[in-house]
This record gives sequence, C-alpha cells and structure tokens, in this order.
Amino acid sequence: MTASAEKFTRQTLLDVHSLTPSLFTLRTTRDPGFRFRAGQFARLGVTKADGSTVWRAYSMVSSPHDEFLEFFSIVVPGGEFTSELSRLEVGDTLLVDRQAFGYLTLDRFVDGRDLWLLATGTGLAPFLSILQDFEVWEKFERIILVYSVREARELAYRDLIEGLVRRDYLVEFAHKLQFVPTVTRESYPGALNGRITTLIENGELERAAGVALTPEHSRVMLCGNPQMIDDTRKVLKLRDMNLSLSRRPGQVAVETYW
Ligand SMILES: Cc1cc2nc3c(=O)[nH]c(=O)nc-3n(C[C@H](O)[C@H](O)[C@H](O)COP(=O)(O)OP(=O)(O)OC[C@H]3O[C@@H](n4cnc5c(N)ncnc54)[C@H](O)[C@@H]3O)c2cc1C
Ligand SMILES: NC(=O)c1ccc[n+]([C@@H]2O[C@H](COP(=O)([O-])OP(=O)(O)OC[C@H]3O[C@@H](n4cnc5c(N)ncnc54)[C@H](OP(=O)(O)O)[C@@H]3O)[C@@H](O)[C@H]2O)c1
Repeated sequence: MTASAEKFTRQTLLDVHSLTPSLFTLRTTRDPGFRFRAGQFARLGVTKADGSTVWRAYSMVSSPHDEFLEFFSIVVPGGEFTSELSRLEVGDTLLVDRQAFGYLTLDRFVDGRDLWLLATGTGLAPFLSILQDFEVWEKFERIILVYSVREARELAYRDLIEGLVRRDYLVEFAHKLQFVPTVTRESYPGALNGRITTLIENGELERAAGVALTPEHSRVMLCGNPQMIDDTRKVLKLRDMNLSLSRRPGQVAVETYW
C-alpha cells in the first residue's frame, strides 16, 4: 500500500514532557491535510517491537489552527498502548489516523449562555483545544472550566490555562473564564475539595463559579471517567438537563474515555 492510500500518517515527536510518573504530554508534527474541530479525537498508533501496531483514541489538546498536534496521556500500569507510548522519545514516529472523530464539539449546542466544561484527569484535553480556539469565546458569555484530579500535582496545564486570557486575541474576553480546579484526595489551597458530582449536589460548584446551573442558560460538556459521566448525567437530569442529540437539542454533551 502506498503512504497516501493508508488510513494514517506518520508524525514525528517534537517534545515529550513528563508531569508525574503517570501523566505526560506529547507534541508531534502535523500532517497539513489533517483537519479537526476543537474537542475531537484521533486514533493514534504505536508500533511494538514485534512489528504489530496498537491503536487508541486520543483527544487533541492543540487547537485546529496550531501547526503541531499535542496530546495529554495517562500511563496505565501494564496498559497495552500507554506502556509503548510512554517509551517514545523525541524523533520517534507516532501514527495518526487521517480522520478525526467525535461530537464533543460546540456545534452540539444550538444556544446557551454559560458553557460548563467538566473534566476528570486527562479528560481535560479536549477542553484545552476548545479554549484555544476562538469560537467559544464569542459564542458564550461565561466559560467555567472545572478540572477534577486526585492529587494537586496532577493539575496539568495550569500555565496554559492561566495564560489563555493573556493571549492577544483573547484579552478582551478575559472576564469570561472561570477556572475551578478540584482535588479530591488531599486539600490544596485555591482548589475545591470534592468530586464534581458532590460539588453540584451541595451547590459548592455554583458558589465557586458565581453562576447557577440552569437548563435555560447552561450548556455542559463532560469528559473523562465513565462513572463520573454517568453519575453527573444523573445529577444534571434531576435539574432537567439532558443529553443534546441532533433530533432533540439539549444541554449536555459527553466523551467517555474508557
Ligand atoms: C474518545 C476517546 C478519547 C480519549 N482521549 C484520551 C486522551 O486524550 N488522553 C488519554 O490519556 N487517554 C485518552 N483516552 C483513553 C485511551 O484511548 C486509552 O484507553 C489509554 O491510552 C490507555 O490505553 P492502554 O492500552 O494503556 O490501556 P487500556 O487497556 O486502554 O485501559 C486500561 C484501563 O486503564 C484506565 N484508563 C484508560 N484510559 C485512561 C485515562 N485516560 N485516564 C485514566 N484511566 C484510564 C481504565 O481503567 C481502563 O479500563 C481516550 C479514549 C477515548 C474513547
Ligand atoms: N492518580 C493516581 O494517583 C493513581 C494511582 C494509582 C493508580 N491509578 C490508576 O490510574 C487510573 C486513572 O487515575 P486518575 O486519577 O487519572 O483518574 P480517575 O480515577 O478518573 O480520577 C480523576 C478524578 O475523577 C474523580 N472521579 C472518579 N470517579 C468519579 C465519579 N464517579 N464521580 C465524580 N468524580 C469521579 C476522582 O475523584 P476520587 O479521587 O474521589 O476518586 C478524581 O478527582 C485509574 O484507573 C487508577 O486505577 C491512579
């Protein structure tokens, strides 16, 4: 098969950065023909020593207008894919599917005033892409990014998040962003202490954000741990907030990572 007929391209690692023993970021070259919408994912492939290739879905962290691709990864102990991925070094090859997939994109919502982005762990990735793209800043009056991790050292991309509102093209929208980190297994200054579900139920999240979660004004994206997504959907349903489908627009969009 010729390279152009293959369903994937070969990209080169430009940067690998370890955050904790189980979290790291990767930056690669980007094929000029690779197009995606902020919030989507691609299938990545790594070739093992025996010549076989393992594929897994990964959300893009980088924005659609960046010249590179960036990804944020967990290392699952003994995980078939991440054991290989975490061994890669600058200059190595990563396979990237030619097509991007996924519906955790802003066009899931036809209206709404406040956008709530609720992430656990590496589920932060698609929200970083969305926040680095211009559309969200024009479309919503308020953007509340909620990021739940077990330990404070796992709060990744703080510089990027805090730096967003200093970017030339976003300065005028700085007042719109509210960043609410929450650390669940230790207390940490400047972060809430509790699961997203609990913080919605007890009203703490709305108090921290200074805005109410309502079906009229709020649109909610959930990404990461599948149990968090199930549990949060139940909590939101009690407030009349439901999944947004093309045949029935709603308030909630999700991406489940496993
Ligand atoms: C649409 C989509 C987008 C994804 N985007 C990302 C991403 O941007 N970054 C990322 O790290 N992973 C992402 N994942 C998960 C990723 O595809 C793999 O599951 C992950 O790389 C682990 O692969 P593995 O073969 O090592 O372990 P697997 O055999 O795939 O998983 C083993 C177990 O590890 C745990 N696990 C898997 N992924 C995660 C995770 N991300 N965080 C915490 N626990 C996990 C689960 O308990 C799972 O059952 C995404 C998954 C989907 C479906
Ligand atoms: N992070 C670590 O130190 C660590 C250590 C050993 C192994 N691992 C393995 O690594 C994998 C991923 O760990 P992770 O920490 O990135 O992901 P995670 O287990 O999904 O935790 C990330 C965040 O999601 C929260 N969460 C989990 N389930 C939830 C639910 N049902 N509702 C609301 N919030 C929920 C967690 O709160 P809680 O803290 O309350 O669960 C935590 O704040 C796991 O499979 C784990 O076995 C991680």
